[in-house]
Amino acid sequence: MYESFTAGNREILFLEKSESTNSDMKKRIYEEKAPLFAVISAREQSGGRGRLGRSFFSPGGGLYFSVSVPLTGKENNIPFMTLLAGLCVSEAIYELTGVRTQIKWPNDIYFGNKKLGGILCELVTGGCVTAVVGIGINLTLKKEDIPTELINIMTSFCAEGLSVPDEKMLIKSITERLDKYIYEYKELYEVREETITAIRRLSYSIGKNVKYKLGDTVYEGLITNIMKTGAAQMTLPDGTVKEIFCGEITQ
Ligand code: BTN
Repeated sequence: MYESFTAGNREILFLEKSESTNSDMKKRIYEEKAPLFAVISAREQSGGRGRLGRSFFSPGGGLYFSVSVPLTGKENNIPFMTLLAGLCVSEAIYELTGVRTQIKWPNDIYFGNKKLGGILCELVTGGCVTAVVGIGINLTLKKEDIPTELINIMTSFCAEGLSVPDEKMLIKSITERLDKYIYEYKELYEVREETITAIRRLSYSIGKNVKYKLGDTVYEGLITNIMKTGAAQMTLPDGTVKEIFCGEITQ
């Protein structure tokens, strides 16, 4: 660890390197036995994890951090929390740099047609129910350091020639927004119209023709909405409307 301090009600730890900040946070939550308010951040991860059991490429030059959000137990809707986290990331980036990013359902942060960051929300149950909101953002990774197989899929602030946000300010802005949005969700137990409207406005997926694979079946259709439940609404060519909660959509 190279730095730690307290901001608001959160203990913030900065590590040079971690295997996965989500895994570190989960260990801390199990050890703690009381509601834990913390952020664990690293500049590099050796075993970064993504959705659907995939690995998340996490070389130096990125910001990788996990926020623990104790829950009351009834609002454990991980798909919606993932979208809320995407909203926080997009808003914070815009506030600090003026750069407009989008949310590709359910968990990717896009700049143009490439992935600038990703979100992995996990639920820890046991004594205290806690969401671990893991966020990875590619900051100073150079274009030439992006592996060939990822060059058409991922990007970074530097690779796009964008001004790079300050790491600590980014963590602060994202975490404060998360607290605000999740508080509304926890206490009011409803999704405000303004919040879902903001998520829809930032959606990369609405209006795109996509493929969705469920078991052996592949559906093709248009993403027509993002729902308050966190689901993506897909309209098939015959007019059937499906709501998708899990898995992946591809173009
Ligand atoms: C994805 O692209 O599927 C989600 C990527 C989430 C990556 C972040 S980086 C911080 C935290 N620690 C991890 O191991 N994963 C998340």
